[in-house]
Order: sequence, then C-alpha cells, then structure tokens
Amino acid sequence: MEQRKLGWFASLGAIPYNVGVPQIRWGISSSLWRSGRPIIETPLKPDWRIPKGRRLTPKTTLPPQAGFGPDGRIIEYELDVPMKSILIPADALNKRVHELGEEITEEYRGTVPLLVSILKGGVVFLTDLMRAVRIPHHIDFLQLSSYAGGKKTTGTVRLLSDLGTNIAGRDVIIVEDIVDTGLTLTYLLKQLEIRQPKSLRVCALLNKVEAREVDVHIDYVGFEIPNEFVVGYGLDYDEKYRNLPYIGVLDAE
Ligand code: IMP
Repeated sequence: MEQRKLGWFASLGAIPYNVGVPQIRWGISSSLWRSGRPIIETPLKPDWRIPKGRRLTPKTTLPPQAGFGPDGRIIEYELDVPMKSILIPADALNKRVHELGEEITEEYRGTVPLLVSILKGGVVFLTDLMRAVRIPHHIDFLQLSSYAGGKKTTGTVRLLSDLGTNIAGRDVIIVEDIVDTGLTLTYLLKQLEIRQPKSLRVCALLNKVEAREVDVHIDYVGFEIPNEFVVGYGLDYDEKYRNLPYIGVLDAE
C-alpha cells in the first residue's frame, strides 16, 4: 500500500519527492522512519490544483523541522508548536517561483516593471521572485494591515506605510504572499489604480479560492491551496514562522 502511494506520489512532475524523501530518510533518525516506511498521507483535498493541470497533493508528514541547509544537509527549524503538515515543500516553491519569474521575464521584456511587495508576508517571495526575473526591474514596498496578530482578518485594511516610487505611467506588478478573502488586494488595487500606472497586475504565491469574499483577478498564481491557515516562506502566525523554507499548517487551534 505504502509503496503504491509513494510510486504515485513520486511520479508527480511538480514535486521531486523521489529525490527529497530518501535524503530525509537518511538524514533524520526520528521515529517517523523507524517503521522503515515513509509516511505519506492521503491528499487533503484531492481536487485542488496548481496551474498547467498538474495536481498538487502535498499532505506529506515530512519531519516538521526539516529544511535543507546550504550544503544540502537537513537543518532543523525550531518550532514551539508542532507542524500538522507540510503543504508545499521548499523544492516545489523554488521550482514554481522560477516558472513565475520566467513568465514575467517573457511578458515584460522591453519594459522595466516595478515589483511591489506587500510587507511583511510578501518579502520572502519577492526576494526569490526578483532573482528569477531575468530582465531589469525595480522593486518597492508598502505595508498594509488587516490581521491583528491572529488567524482571522479584521476586514478593515489600513495603509501602514506607502511606496517611495511614483507609479504613474509605470508597469506595476503587485507581489502578494497570499490572497485569502481578497479584501486586502481589492483595497490595494483601488489605491494604486488612482495613481494611474500604465499597467497593474497581480502575482500571488498562494490563492485560497474557497475563502474568497470579494471577487478579485490574479494574473499570476503560484499555487491554489485549501482553506487552511498556513505559515512559512514569509507567512506568519503572530509574527512567527516566517523563516520556514516551506509552507506548512500548524498543529494549533
Ligand atoms: P485577505 O485580505 O483576507 O485576502 O488577506 C490577505 C493577507 O492576510 C495576506 O497578505 C496575509 O498577510 C494574511 N493571510 C491570509 N491568509 C493567511 C494565512 O493562511 N497565513 C498567514 N497569513 C495569511
């Protein structure tokens, strides 16, 4: 049974588990591996997809603190709350971010787009994405607030700090970590449209379609994810876990 699941899982183009899993197996002598079998759970929701028709089914129970250090060895991230599951491992994030960077490179060649990151959650995504965009471009930051330290949006978006760039006549790409209810992005699009950019597009790493409260168009989507509160890769819970190299779901109420 396990063998069959692993074979099916490893055949997924998006996530090279056939490479990652054995490294973890040899690198960590935790009880997870004592049975001699990798533990792979069934998908959270079998029908959520990433673009280009590939299926993403990453509810694997990889060791919760696992990440890869610069030399490729496992490094441990110290968590004060256990990780329920790793939704998107670091290698899948890396691959998809490079695909997005390539799309932006092709579509904006001949222009100097301005990538606008929303602090603080979008900062890790921006720093990886900008290195995957092979044409000259500028970056800028603004900070909004709609979460008061918890898991639920307050529904009221506030501009905490504004851009330093005049975007009139510029090709602007908003680089968002996650679109959940859509309230933050709707607010931001309105604010930026008034400033008359030449074009205004949205690149979001994660899209929680099921949580949407207002309709909003996203031009570039990294992954569509289920309606779970996620952390890592810039995303926080109570300002923590932004340092994790993967997207995970915390085992906490
Ligand atoms: P929205 O206004 O509900 O779409 O929320 C957008 C903002 O809420 C994002 O930019 C994040 O900062 C935060 N957010 C939404 N969902 C999550 C999550 O699952 N984990 C961490 N932050 C989230």
